[in-house]
Amino acid sequence: ETIEWDLEAAEKAGYEHFMLKEIHEQPTSIQNTFAGKLSELEGNVTLEELYLSKEEIKRLKRATIIACGTSWNAGILGKYLFEKLAGIHTDIETASEFRYSNPVLCGEELTIAITQSGETADTLAAVRSSTSYGCRSIAITNVVGSTITRESDSVLYTRAGPEIGVAATKTFTAQLIVLYMLAINLGRARGVISADEAKDLIVAIKRLPGQIQKVLSRKDTINECAVQFADKRDYFFIGRYLNFPVALEGALKLKEISYIHAEGYAAGELKHGPLALITDETPVVAIATKGHTYEKILSNIKEVKARNATVIAVADDDDTEIEKYVDVVIRVPSTHELLAPVLSSVALQLLSYYTALAKDCSIDKPRNLAKSVTVE
Ligand code: G6P
Repeated sequence: ETIEWDLEAAEKAGYEHFMLKEIHEQPTSIQNTFAGKLSELEGNVTLEELYLSKEEIKRLKRATIIACGTSWNAGILGKYLFEKLAGIHTDIETASEFRYSNPVLCGEELTIAITQSGETADTLAAVRSSTSYGCRSIAITNVVGSTITRESDSVLYTRAGPEIGVAATKTFTAQLIVLYMLAINLGRARGVISADEAKDLIVAIKRLPGQIQKVLSRKDTINECAVQFADKRDYFFIGRYLNFPVALEGALKLKEISYIHAEGYAAGELKHGPLALITDETPVVAIATKGHTYEKILSNIKEVKARNATVIAVADDDDTEIEKYVDVVIRVPSTHELLAPVLSSVALQLLSYYTALAKDCSIDKPRNLAKSVTVE
């Protein structure tokens, strides 16, 4: 007698798709990414794999982040973090553009490549060209022994485990965690942030796994919202500052797996073009977690409401006024302002997932896309 079983179903551990399984793994995958590195008492992050002396870190004049796709979206948040927490001027470049531009680089710079697979051809080529100028390099990757790890001075791993779904989910949030840790580490070495400031962030990072669990437990509400707008042709995602990369990633996830045309915009840019497209047929997702741009995003919400758009806001549990301005609210737990992108991103991953599910799309293997793009 043989027992019949399906290997793929077994690997999905009861979830209908790898993507849903991977979304649900995030409390664990980010915990694994920061495990053993956060010292609350000293207010510091220990990165043993970072081969840069304190003196070298102090001398750094500039950093360039190079990446593609979802990793590039993570890199935009990285830029804001390095500038705010470590006082390092940071550029963020799309690898495919960087390699054919004429970058002005000198020695005392850092190149940070973000690549889940460690094999993206454009990212590898861009890093090679930057190291030819003598820049020190750091790779942030999920794959042990991948090509990028052999070509970078330091390697920081996102310990998210293998990701099967083509759409990056748990590897994206793990990249964000590495970027927070690196920014805190550099910021402490350069004396830009105090031990107390670092401590506040560390305590908040440690609370993220539990808070992600809370976002996941609200999946039914997010599903309802997804179903309500699944027949729309266009979607806009808007956010400001730290929430701008969240908007970009929210839009990228939606277009990748549900095939709905979606645009992520820095909300202040709406009036420079996209406002012309806003009608009662275009849902607008506004990432409106509390922070110093909150009032600004509220005025952007009013701008799109005035054009009859339906607005879905991602807002904090503590926000008591957002309902007055929008049609649907997706709630995320309140956290340190800098960390809110992690929680909002999980909520938007679920929104995309349930939209694609309602449309019966091929979620784990979207048309025309590959998990890893190893050719130019
Ligand atoms: C492909 C994948 C994306 C990924 C991008 C960059 O397009 O479908 O999910 O973000 O490559 O990949 P990397 O491995 O360099 O992060």
